[in-house]
Amino acid sequence: RIWTLRYVPEESKDKVISDEDVLGTLLKVFQALFVNDFSKQSDILTVLPEPVKSKYQDLLSVQHPRVKQLEYRHQQQNTFTPEEILYKTLGFSVARAPSSLISAGKGVFVTKGLVRKGAVVSMYPGTVYQKYEPIFFQSIGNPFIFRCLDGVLIDGNDKGISKVVYRSCNGRDQLGPLKMSDSTWLTSEIHNPLAIGQYVNNCSNDRAANVCYQEFDVPAAFPIELKQYLPNIAYSYDKQSPLRCVILVALRDIEQGEELFSNYYTIVS
Ligand SMILES: *[C@@H]1O[C@H](CO)[C@@H](O)[C@H](O)[C@H]1NC(C)=O
Repeated sequence: RIWTLRYVPEESKDKVISDEDVLGTLLKVFQALFVNDFSKQSDILTVLPEPVKSKYQDLLSVQHPRVKQLEYRHQQQNTFTPEEILYKTLGFSVARAPSSLISAGKGVFVTKGLVRKGAVVSMYPGTVYQKYEPIFFQSIGNPFIFRCLDGVLIDGNDKGISKVVYRSCNGRDQLGPLKMSDSTWLTSEIHNPLAIGQYVNNCSNDRAANVCYQEFDVPAAFPIELKQYLPNIAYSYDKQSPLRCVILVALRDIEQGEELFSNYYTIVS
């Protein structure tokens, strides 16, 4: 059988941006998505503590000063698409489209705005396996497995058995109305517009890498109501260790219309 793993070499372990910057960006985007989606979040709001609830109500009244919260719930037409929210918060949006490389399938493009050097431009979604965990069936003919520097694997395949495994982990970890991760990256209606990093193609002789992979462990204090936008979940339920995410960081300014290219190798055995 053929095992394929994507990896980045040991030398690239130095982080391009700080964990604080990664966290800051994710919180900014996820919070904007949450507020935009407020009308569908009423179940979650009922289980959140009062100070958190009023924080969002304040944010909402800043964005929609003339609309009362209760009325807002019925005004779905006021909401933006996730891609529009990304553009409003970070100044760019990204999406999948046929790659500019011949026979590379899909790729990821900057569809609007400008990505600044050092910006978090994408996330690598998928189930997170510790290195001792079995991934045999999920790995057969699967080109979307990313290996972190410490051997942790992230299966970013949105089809077949990988999809089934992710969905079942997502269901397992749900706490009442609170989802611990986002599974919409497995569908065509993606809630977190950054969660398309597995489709970023490798660089080539004439296309230099403009993004790189960076690992990020979600801190324990991450707001519970925003976890529904995290596109990763642990294969084994584990309350103690932090959730591993992999993000893509821009290595230079990237303009509208440009395709993203990373730099990874594969181990085939
Ligand atoms: C990715 O591109 C680099 C640079 O062109 C190359 O060395 C490497 O082998 C490529 N990786 C794969 C998996 O093709």
